[in-house]
Amino acid sequence: MAKTYKIAAIGGDGTGPEVLREGIKVLTAVAPKFGVTLDFTHFDFGGERYLRTGEALPDSAAAEMKKFDAIYLGAIGHPDVKPGILEKGILLRLRFELDQYINLRPVKLYPGVECPLKGKGPNEIDYVVVRENSGDLYTGTGGVTMKGTPHEVAVQSAVYSRFQVDRCLKFAFDYTRKRNKKKTLALCGKTNVLTYLYDLWERAFHEMGAQHYPEITREYYHVDATCMWMIKNPEWFDVIVTGNMFGDIITDLGAITQGGMGIAAGGNINPEGVSMFECIGGSAPKYTGKNVINPLAQIASGQMMMEILGETAMANKIEQAIMWVVAGKLKSLSAGKMGFSTTDVGDLVAAKAAE
Ligand code: IPM
Ligand code: MN
Repeated sequence: MAKTYKIAAIGGDGTGPEVLREGIKVLTAVAPKFGVTLDFTHFDFGGERYLRTGEALPDSAAAEMKKFDAIYLGAIGHPDVKPGILEKGILLRLRFELDQYINLRPVKLYPGVECPLKGKGPNEIDYVVVRENSGDLYTGTGGVTMKGTPHEVAVQSAVYSRFQVDRCLKFAFDYTRKRNKKKTLALCGKTNVLTYLYDLWERAFHEMGAQHYPEITREYYHVDATCMWMIKNPEWFDVIVTGNMFGDIITDLGAITQGGMGIAAGGNINPEGVSMFECIGGSAPKYTGKNVINPLAQIASGQMMMEILGETAMANKIEQAIMWVVAGKLKSLSAGKMGFSTTDVGDLVAAKAAE
């Protein structure tokens, strides 16, 4: 049966629109093979619009986005706009208002990709980070007093409710079960210092695991040690679940071990609602408009979008095409060093995936 998905496309800033174009090119080329129709509607949210109108995101945006099956986002961040305004006003606002409480970030090294870790290859680097995406230091809880004086005090609190922790853990356990690899879920925390916050996580983790997921092995690592093991023994990991702030940090570390921002994809997921898929590398202003940025991360986030929408075969086909391109075609995953332009890479993946 032919299926149609309505996708909101937000190119955003910098190289965002360039990589998004390639992502859409690939998806559009593959879809007919799987009886899928993709109906894209473009939105101009981003720095240019903000500079023109003074508004980062219209108040109606979240409600508008709810009419779609998914959101495909390029990148947010403009050199002429103070850091934080667009990130908070667009990216984080959409994550929060659409309650995309999971940030899913696979760390997978493909054959042919140069890995900065000595002695490690595709067999050793294949895990997924489930980053909680609605709480922690990201909620804006806190404030500042005596600003601008020598006595200025700034507080920004890490906030978690049992509800938030439980729904994230449930997703992580279910994901580990479905992934069906090492059947190991590692909680990354800091129970030796954050004795309220990660004590809550740890109790919830073991209670849920023991009760509902007895076949999943549970492990615990402090966040600092997690960073060390991600470098030293990445093969230990299958799925890692963690809070929003630690998840932000460790996924950049993970990304560099899989070949960098050129290939790292992420999904902001509301399992019961509208999810948003993006390359995690940002808007790369210095490469804007040069047709040199690597679109593979954006293409990979499109792959994840199809997977989450339930089109697994289509997602697999896109992944195989990405793997074919990185193994046999590209000289490097870095912008300007690929041996191909942005549009060339999109063409290569699209042609292969549509075979
Ligand atoms: C990410 C980014 C964002 C985050 C920024 C741009 C707000 O670093 O998606 O990892 O911190 O979540
Ligand atoms: Mn980040």
